Amino acid sequence: MRTPIVAGNWKMNKVYREAVAFIEEVKGKTPSKDEVETVICAPALFLKGMNEAAEGSDIQIGAQTMHFEDSGAFTGEISPLALADAGVTYTIIGHSERRELFNETDDSVNRKLHAAYYHNIIPIMCCGETLKEREQHKTAEVVKKQVEAGVKGLDRENVKRLVIAYEPIWAIGTGRSSSAGDANETCAVIRNTIAELYDEETAQALRIQYGGSVKPDNIKSFMEQEHIDGALVGGASLAPDSFLDMAKEAKYE
Ligand code: 13P
Repeated sequence: MRTPIVAGNWKMNKVYREAVAFIEEVKGKTPSKDEVETVICAPALFLKGMNEAAEGSDIQIGAQTMHFEDSGAFTGEISPLALADAGVTYTIIGHSERRELFNETDDSVNRKLHAAYYHNIIPIMCCGETLKEREQHKTAEVVKKQVEAGVKGLDRENVKRLVIAYEPIWAIGTGRSSSAGDANETCAVIRNTIAELYDEETAQALRIQYGGSVKPDNIKSFMEQEHIDGALVGGASLAPDSFLDMAKEAKYE
């Protein structure tokens, strides 16, 4: 059985002191790592301190993006080497906000996935359609293409460890989540795509999250779906109580 994974994506929120205080607050209160993996993806400046604060607990720390090169003349970028040095376990790659606002492409997503694995960081690769694409019934086609491009050239063992977050763009920060059934349908497309590219065993190992207006009172409906193994949560991950409630709700009975 796949271990559920609930990840908070804090985006550009909080300051260092608040980030560390959050970890101190949730430390020891999350489910164990074998029951539900809990991850906070925070701004890069906070990661090392958060990781130190999380020591000895089951909570894991993640980044929100990274560059694919180890070092060089890339002003403002964060190297995977520096993330690994800060002790991060996961990094989000290809979030729709990065694709829309910061020129992330399927090609750069793919290069970043390769770089992340090289440094033993597990990617949470995001995909999802716009409202227009959904209205044109292109959801499956768009998501399939993003997944195929993202995993290009990855070996089977790495794909088994991969987390893919399906986040319909129209559901992000809008309070308007996808219905659990619709989300499951698209997550099934993702799993089938991996089965076609690799094999059924790899597809069954892969974890798929839903993201977009997930909250403590709706996470269960997503977790009940066959192809949904967790959630990538923005707004509702900022408060410790709300994050802990979602982590507990994600536990399989
Ligand atoms: P919200 O949970 O605020 O809708 O954000 C979703 C998201 O973008 C997580 O990556």
